[in-house]
Amino acid sequence: GGVASSSEGAEVTRRETGLRSRLTSYGDDEFSLFLRKAFIKGAGYSDDALDRPIIGIIDTSSGFNPCHGNVPALVKAVERGVQLSGALPIPFPTISLHESFAHPTSMYLRNLMSIDTEEMIKAQPMDGVVLIGGCDKTVPAQLMGAISANIPCISLVTGPMLTGSHQGRRVGACTDCRSYWKDYRAGLIDIEEIWRVNDELVPTVGTCGVMGTASTMACLVEALGLMPLGSATPPATSAARIRVAENTGKLAVKISVENEARKCITPQDVLTRESFTNAIVVLHALGGSTNAVVHLLAIAGRVPNLNPPLTLDDIDSIGRKTPLLVDLKPSGSGYMEDFHRAGGVPALLQQLAPLSILHLEALTITGRTLGDELANFAGKFDYPQEIIRTPSSPLFPASALVVLRGNLAPDGCVLKQSAVGNPALLKHSGPAVVFTSAADMAERLDSPELASKLTADSVLVLQGIGPVGHPGMPEAGMIPIPKALAKQGVTDMLRISDGRMSGTAGGAVILHVAPEAAVGGPLALVQDGDIIGVDVDERKIWVGMVGGDAEIERRKVKWDDEQRKRIKPRVRGYEGLYKSTVLQADQGADFDWLRANDSE
Ligand code: FES
Ligand code: MG
Repeated sequence: GGVASSSEGAEVTRRETGLRSRLTSYGDDEFSLFLRKAFIKGAGYSDDALDRPIIGIIDTSSGFNPCHGNVPALVKAVERGVQLSGALPIPFPTISLHESFAHPTSMYLRNLMSIDTEEMIKAQPMDGVVLIGGCDKTVPAQLMGAISANIPCISLVTGPMLTGSHQGRRVGACTDCRSYWKDYRAGLIDIEEIWRVNDELVPTVGTCGVMGTASTMACLVEALGLMPLGSATPPATSAARIRVAENTGKLAVKISVENEARKCITPQDVLTRESFTNAIVVLHALGGSTNAVVHLLAIAGRVPNLNPPLTLDDIDSIGRKTPLLVDLKPSGSGYMEDFHRAGGVPALLQQLAPLSILHLEALTITGRTLGDELANFAGKFDYPQEIIRTPSSPLFPASALVVLRGNLAPDGCVLKQSAVGNPALLKHSGPAVVFTSAADMAERLDSPELASKLTADSVLVLQGIGPVGHPGMPEAGMIPIPKALAKQGVTDMLRISDGRMSGTAGGAVILHVAPEAAVGGPLALVQDGDIIGVDVDERKIWVGMVGGDAEIERRKVKWDDEQRKRIKPRVRGYEGLYKSTVLQADQGADFDWLRANDSE
């Protein structure tokens, strides 16, 4: 007796089976189930297969996405896990985003991917879903969509790539991409060498091999409780990664089928203030990517009734209590394969647990608490290793990431102080050198006219690369050191923008200034020669103009006036939607209409 032969209609069928996949949305439920079954049988399924719970598997493989190059193997292993648990796996595609192949920037498309994910989960009959992704924007986009769809889901990441080797040195994407390029710009290495290293920087499929955004987000999903402990770090090419996939398939069935002993578990069941606190602790302890700040705010914005809502101040206040323990690039020296061998996130949580900053009582997707899950790893990491430090000998004492505020950034901005090259810049003031756009910067950065004006004390300001400005808030915030200064041996300068930087980058780079220049934030008003000051201990950032506050006010009136006079042509398509509804960085740069309704 197939489900479609139920004479009582779909709602009854759903009540009988407890399965969301039997829900229909048309008047004649019985006929629509009959029709659906007829069509899927075109793929060769039997009634025995089709009468089981259905687990969707999101396949984000693409020829343009080497970070997801192992997805076909992972889909197969998830399918095996689902089948071993008696359910039917059905893979389906969504769009795929790779950092280097998403013009103008992958961030511009993150919200689109979240919409694709949410709507395809909602549209298709499935009882639970496995989200396979890895590259920077994928994991947050999938979580945002799946939280809003709110059916049982588990993240499965593709895992980090291995390291390559150049002249006997380990290299990996993409902190080393940047350091070799910096050396090339400074004239320290030649064109032949820069091309030789190019072959080695990305030696396998998988996500960037340092603590960049992809690795950070993978680890945060473990901390959030939406992926089993130990699932973030196995390399993309390892047998362990395949076993994680099989296990994910099994768990997906378990959480998606309701019975007397067990209710289904959805992401909104798991995500609370406490789980976000755990994720933020792990973010600081990893020395993780600044991009994770934007993504966490966007993810939290999808959870209804998060009380109080997550803000930038939570990022800063939790950071003050959290030491940086994981010695990976760009804050430290190791690679993801080292972190995995040292025990990964569970080993890190073991170090953090005695500090009483984690909420071990937080529920996870397994139905057990984070503390219960962590207990499974007791004694497993009692071997010498140097990658995960103890709280008594941290890599950085606290506040790897800080949030600064002041008249230049009333709604905040972010700095990864653990990756600052020259600590003197943490308390610094100097004259602004302003670029009005990424194009302006590219054109003038190395020009002789600019070289004559610059010193190592100058503060480089880049306007117009925020969510609305560019659009999509590109990773252009790490303004290169101007060649003239680089050749004099200057390796770090204070740099400020409303954009982002890659999680694999470092330097005294202040990011995510809100409100951004394109919507008239104070950043838009800064001109060459204004004095910009930063005091990280005080969490302050300010701009001083000759003429003081009155001058700021005068420039603002002028800016508003020019805006009013400017003819704004209709912008069609996704770009129009993006520019008119994207929120500022301090709200995660989600679309305003995608955030959760409270009291949902
Ligand atoms: Fe995909 Fe770095 S480019 S994770
Ligand atoms: Mg990146």
